[in-house]
Amino acid sequence: MSANLNFQHWRLEERHDAALVSLDVSGQSANVLSAAVLEEFARVLTHLETTPYSGAIIRSAKPHGFIVGADVTEFQKITDADRAAELARTGQRLFDRIEALPYPTVAVIHGNCLGGGLELALACTYRVAREDEGTRLGLPEVRLGIHPGFGGSVRLPRLIGHLPALDLMLTGRAVSSRAARRLGLVDECVPERHLLRAAHALIDKAPAPHQPGVLARAPGLKPLRPLVAKLLAHKLRAKASPAHYPAPYRILELWRNAAGYADEAQSLGQLLVSRTSHNLVRVFLLGEELKRRGRKAAHSIERVHVIGAGVMGADIAAWTAFKGFQVSLQDRSPEALARAMKKAHGYFSKRLKQPRAVQAAMDRLMPDPNGHGLARADLVIEAIVENVEAKRGLFLSVDRVAKADALLATNTSSIPLEELAGVLRDPGRLVGLHFFNPVAQMQLVEIVRGAQSSAQALERARGFTSAIERLPLDVKSSPGFLVNRILMPYLLEAVTMVDEGVPIAAIDRAAVEFGMPMGPILLADTVGIDICLSVAEELSGPLGVAVPTGLRDMVGRGDLGKKTGRGFYRYDKRGRPRPLKGEAAGVPIAERLILRMLNEAKACLREGVVADPDAVDAGMVYGTGFAPFLGGPMRYAEALGAAGVRESLTHLAGEYGARFKPDIGWRTRED
Ligand code: NAI
Repeated sequence: MSANLNFQHWRLEERHDAALVSLDVSGQSANVLSAAVLEEFARVLTHLETTPYSGAIIRSAKPHGFIVGADVTEFQKITDADRAAELARTGQRLFDRIEALPYPTVAVIHGNCLGGGLELALACTYRVAREDEGTRLGLPEVRLGIHPGFGGSVRLPRLIGHLPALDLMLTGRAVSSRAARRLGLVDECVPERHLLRAAHALIDKAPAPHQPGVLARAPGLKPLRPLVAKLLAHKLRAKASPAHYPAPYRILELWRNAAGYADEAQSLGQLLVSRTSHNLVRVFLLGEELKRRGRKAAHSIERVHVIGAGVMGADIAAWTAFKGFQVSLQDRSPEALARAMKKAHGYFSKRLKQPRAVQAAMDRLMPDPNGHGLARADLVIEAIVENVEAKRGLFLSVDRVAKADALLATNTSSIPLEELAGVLRDPGRLVGLHFFNPVAQMQLVEIVRGAQSSAQALERARGFTSAIERLPLDVKSSPGFLVNRILMPYLLEAVTMVDEGVPIAAIDRAAVEFGMPMGPILLADTVGIDICLSVAEELSGPLGVAVPTGLRDMVGRGDLGKKTGRGFYRYDKRGRPRPLKGEAAGVPIAERLILRMLNEAKACLREGVVADPDAVDAGMVYGTGFAPFLGGPMRYAEALGAAGVRESLTHLAGEYGARFKPDIGWRTRED
């Protein structure tokens, strides 16, 4: 090999007449395809084109994975669609050069192989993947409001067939290496030690590259494409509105038109500069930042003891065991423990499938009616009924038995931490770990800081939260913390409208059309009317909000929502709400709902419940699903402008009452 090949990110070696090309992006823990990395790749390719190798193997030198995709931080700087399209064309030309090499090429894949990383692998003649759960392949671009732009939308259907390719691109989901083998996405799926040998064997034997079967090719027949695209678009509309999330519809359009590389690049350019994509990328980066902060934090936790096996405790314990911790679960009710274990088994079976893995997870979760696990636990999570005296009593006994250096946490939704910490010898070790229901779906955990919580305890709580793959968000111990406090006025406004006679269907529809994952009334039913009422009552004093009488009446009647089969909606045996009809004329439903949320968000910021607007946005998107394409409430408010928000609130206050009075935080410098 010539001596002047000096690369910063790539490494070239020769092995058995083949080139071994390794990517090791300098200064990064994972390989990303930044502009600099791609520029250097052009030089690597020139070398490959001018050297008579028998084949080339492309792999990653990072221990954790192949390539996680393009550099999303670069996306945010692009504001010109033509320039974005040109960047995509540049990437496409590079990958074309891989395809055009005069000898076979093999991508050797371990860990994450996503987005641009998979597109690179698709340009190779063959792909070999490591056989393990940690190896995942996918095109997640759609989740960032874009679609593949380095040729992936053209190459993937050719390789694995049309419908499987559309499924991967439209959902953005990643598949394991075994699933990838079944799809034909990779040619071989082998243990780590055989990876290179398998790659060399493919180069030596040069079998015909994979092609999908005749059936998989059928939907791509020209006369069928418009029909298939129409059917898929119809299904898509139930999940994502084209106005809010155009990318999946673009994927369908490109496919329907059997578009080539130039169209892919041009369409990507337009999406990349759209508001939706900018906001989705921002939300993604906010999540990454929370993860990063948590990962940095040392927690030294191995054993976790959860007290209370009700709705929350059971799920927290199961999730924590699922993520590899040793967990003991205590409840004074044997029935609650039995229910919790049964539910955990169901969850593990669904997620892990293989009986041995399910058994291993069950072995990590120990029902513990007498609380033997408490004395050995590094972390104790309390999730018993929401009652100050009960919780104080429990912490008093926990304090006596738990290890002196055990971290203590409460999942309380509304009790000030300081009131509970008073019974402890070392109040500094108590923090809030406020999980959201359902734990397996909601990524956020509020790390609640009481006035007495020590910095070290908070740091450990963040570290643990990251270790169980949830996003830790720092909040101050104050009524409702961040998420419930902002959500509550929105829910109460919806209930007020019901009391006014606005049809339920119209309220929920307006919220969904705005971009919320479900309407507020259906949400109240799903959370439970009793829980909504108790949170509302807790917050009504400190925040001065009135609790609509309708809620109390419903709890009095036992209409608690989905769990009792009747709330605002009625539910069938399978828990599906019976659809309702109704239009509302003249009521600014969405405006009333969303502005109450924005106003409360502003108050939280002013009071320092969280550190900055980014924290509000991360909390509301990851804790409630607030319209991700709008980037979160504060980003949305920024787009509306503070003066505009204030004006709308003032107008609503005149029309509907003082609860809309603009928070003083909306004042701008000119006021
Ligand atoms: P739950 O009523 O479903 O479960 C409470 C469990 O604790 C019951 O199984 C009960 O037998 C057990 N328990 C009560 N006292 C006990 C004691 N001294 N020792 C051992 N076990 C005891 O309650 P849920 O909904 O799970 O709430 C638990 C906590 O989580 C509360 O503080 C609540 O505010 C909070 N939370 C609830 C959310 C929800 O959506 N349900 C969401 C976030 C937090």
